[in-house]
Amino acid sequence: MVELAPSILSADFSRLADEIAAAERGGGTVIHVDVMDGHFVPNITIGPPVVASLRKATKLPLDCHLMIENCDEFIPAFADAGANWVSVHYEACRHLHRSLELIASHGMKPAVVLNPATRVTLIRDILPMVHHVLIMSVNPGFGGQRFIEFSLDKIRKLVELRQELGLTFRIEVDGGVAHDTVARVVQAGADLLVAGNAVFGSGNAEQNARALLQAARQAGVPADGS
Ligand code: DX5
Ligand code: ZN
Repeated sequence: MVELAPSILSADFSRLADEIAAAERGGGTVIHVDVMDGHFVPNITIGPPVVASLRKATKLPLDCHLMIENCDEFIPAFADAGANWVSVHYEACRHLHRSLELIASHGMKPAVVLNPATRVTLIRDILPMVHHVLIMSVNPGFGGQRFIEFSLDKIRKLVELRQELGLTFRIEVDGGVAHDTVARVVQAGADLLVAGNAVFGSGNAEQNARALLQAARQAGVPADGS
């Protein structure tokens, strides 16, 4: 089943609890939290104290996407703050296996993220460890960027790899997921859709989330209705 993970990066930070509630009413079932350090990516966002506040505002899983260099130093703090899923970048982790084990040892679901330029085959050996793989379909750092088309090939490749290895990890896609791209993302095989600008950018977050999810689920239904 395809799920929508609204990214609060494009929300009004002065009204985060309301924004999350609206996205949840619209069908969002996971809250995506973008953590940026100004080193790995050219932007700074939020950290564990904000996650702890979000924890009080929603029961939905908090999906923390760490775009930071020294993730091992912060993973325990995210666990204490109430994070449920933690994803770390292949490109930012010197010892990826260790970082994934650390996340799991704190009772959270570990995941790995790939930048657009990183091949999916590079993570083959650690795939049995992950709850999901996050394919970046923009270069991380900012919301509202244009979807990079070859991400679709990476999703398809990952689906093949999952089948070949007999695994069940989920495939999440992040960046430029919106009305004009969502159908292709779902048809390529993604089942966790991160969307920031398309949900919170303008208009009504509840309606935006509902419409995007509807488009995603329609795209997932075979044309013959079977
Ligand atoms: C970008 C973040 C994304 C971002 C996506 O570095 O990882 O989660 O919020 O934003 P949109 O959906 O606007 O492309
Ligand atoms: Zn993200």
